[in-house]
Amino acid sequence: MNLKKMVGIESAKYVKDGMTVGLGTGSTAFFMVEEIGRRMREEGLSITGVTTSNATEKQASELGIPLKSIDEVDHVDVTIDGADEISNDYHGIKGGGAALLFEKIVATYSNKTIWIVDESKMVEHLGAFPLPVEVIPYGSDQLVRLFNSKGYNPKIRRQDNGNPLLTDSKNYIIDLYLEKIENPKDLATWLDHQVGVVEHGLFLDMATTVIIGTSDKGVQTIE
Ligand code: 5RP
Repeated sequence: MNLKKMVGIESAKYVKDGMTVGLGTGSTAFFMVEEIGRRMREEGLSITGVTTSNATEKQASELGIPLKSIDEVDHVDVTIDGADEISNDYHGIKGGGAALLFEKIVATYSNKTIWIVDESKMVEHLGAFPLPVEVIPYGSDQLVRLFNSKGYNPKIRRQDNGNPLLTDSKNYIIDLYLEKIENPKDLATWLDHQVGVVEHGLFLDMATTVIIGTSDKGVQTIE
């Protein structure tokens, strides 16, 4: 079976009747949402979903999953989401699908956060995957200059027509081509303090469980 599908199905086992569930974004999270939809249809599972992007909202609505916004719930029992890279100390880079802002907000208010990945996402150090930074369009070229001056190799993410890609919140994404992030906590703190930066894709100390799909050993779960 496709590794993304394998971990998507496995992660849905953590979802129990009556839970409020954060529904992540991306090609791996897609399979988890499909499996929750199947369990609702075939097993009578009843949950409330909190989506992390317009794309997941569309998918979940089509499956008939009842949805609330993060502001309408007290807390989220469990959020299940993909990741672009996970280091051996279980920090992550997210935002390859440009949904990092809602993903981080939903994860922040979740009792448990499960990341589901295939083995290619597991790395020793973060940074080979470009770090997405969501920024306000106004002043974004100034931020590009600032990131350049720090040697962070920034590139505004663009659509096929050359225009900047807009996130669900109508912001831009600047991807930082860092190759290796020596100190993720220092970089996260620095980015947190830059005017015009809305959020960044460093998700530090956020995952409580990581489910990895491997081709030789099947599913591995790290709690
Ligand atoms: C979207 C994300 C995704 O979870 C991440 O990009 C992984 O996606 P995929 O499962 O398609 O590889 O952070 O913003």
